[in-house]
Amino acid sequence: MVGGARAVARCDALGVAPHSDMEGGLYRGYLTPAYVAAQEALAGWMTEAGMTVRRDPAANLIGRYEGADAHAPALLIGSHLDSVRDGGRYDGPLGIMLGVEAVAALHAAGRRMRFPIEVIAFGDEEGSRFPAAMLTSRAVAGTLAAAALDMADADGVTLENALATLPPFVLSEVEGRAASASLGTRASTSLSTNGYFGAVRAPGTALAYLETHIEQGPVLEAEGLAVGTVTGIAAQLRFQATVIGIAGHAGTASMPLRRDALAGAAEMLLAIETIARRDASDLVATVGRIEALPGAANVIPGEVRFTIDIRSGDPGRRDRAAEAILDAIAAIADTRGLDFDVEHIHDLPASPCNPALMDLLDAATAAAGQPIRQLVSGAGHDAMVMAALCPTAMLFVRCKGGVSHNPAEHVDPADAEIALQVMLGFIDHLGDAS
Ligand code: GLV
Ligand code: MN
Ligand code: MN
Repeated sequence: MVGGARAVARCDALGVAPHSDMEGGLYRGYLTPAYVAAQEALAGWMTEAGMTVRRDPAANLIGRYEGADAHAPALLIGSHLDSVRDGGRYDGPLGIMLGVEAVAALHAAGRRMRFPIEVIAFGDEEGSRFPAAMLTSRAVAGTLAAAALDMADADGVTLENALATLPPFVLSEVEGRAASASLGTRASTSLSTNGYFGAVRAPGTALAYLETHIEQGPVLEAEGLAVGTVTGIAAQLRFQATVIGIAGHAGTASMPLRRDALAGAAEMLLAIETIARRDASDLVATVGRIEALPGAANVIPGEVRFTIDIRSGDPGRRDRAAEAILDAIAAIADTRGLDFDVEHIHDLPASPCNPALMDLLDAATAAAGQPIRQLVSGAGHDAMVMAALCPTAMLFVRCKGGVSHNPAEHVDPADAEIALQVMLGFIDHLGDAS
């Protein structure tokens, strides 16, 4: 099997139990049993590709392929191993598996670049378990605030506890091989939020960060293209809103007397949609999660919690929309006699990719016999965090129907192979340039 097809097959292998925490679909939350199982499989594949493997204090899995100059800053190739709930198999893992394939190809050819290559599998890009996102790349890039780690998942499990109880990964498939010297991590000291910051990299140790990712949109498919060079990533803003009304009896509380938190939230959701729609630009706003409490057919909801995600390539546009949304929520709450609280949980600025690295990707794309296409990313990626550490580049791969965050997500193995050839060309060009 060629590398691109093998990368896709490995994503598929990680799409089911024990690498998924969900029956009949894929959900791999940060620090869950499925996350550890996926790390174990990946550690085996990294080792086979000639890398030494370690887990860092933020529970990222990192494979390292030495360069001729072990002290040269490393090329980092990464993406994320976690997924959204009932997600697709390629959002995140494809970039990791193609990184492993790029190293495997160098290893098979007996080649070493001057610089080391590290393949990083990040842990919490999606934010689908804890009320945060991109925690682990922020730890690596050194942009994480200590207060950001004081949180719990929906079941009340704190990040501190999830770290402390995380089992070590076991390299079962490669037991006894020389590369399993990295098994020192097996007896790993338990992880903690205090130790989390130890994942940080000194700025001079990273030459560049390359992330290959499915496009998650329709542009490449519409134009009949397998790959594209990303020019930058849109700014993101995320809030957690809580609406407080008065819980009551569904049969006895007359309509005028109600303080129904869910009916109020419904009006707020429609206001959010209206504000984003009337902008008629790249602005998007999404309420992706909503919870009504106490959650019974015969009880008027007394409390509702929902998330708000707002994005645009133009940070000013994003912030103006956020202001309009918060004003609308306040006005609706006031009219309906509801209390509300809006917590700001995530704010990432727009992140341009490095022009010199974009040129290298374009050159590698042309050398692979593919038309050059540059495009912007509406989706967030660890690359936007890693930009604080080193120059970043992103390569997009066509995905079927532009569908993502959905089990129907699909990538053609032939496209993955083209992406792999472009990545190898990029690595070569980077060697010439550095
Ligand atoms: C990540 O998938 C994001 O864009 O939210
Ligand atoms: Mn995603
Ligand atoms: Mn992703």
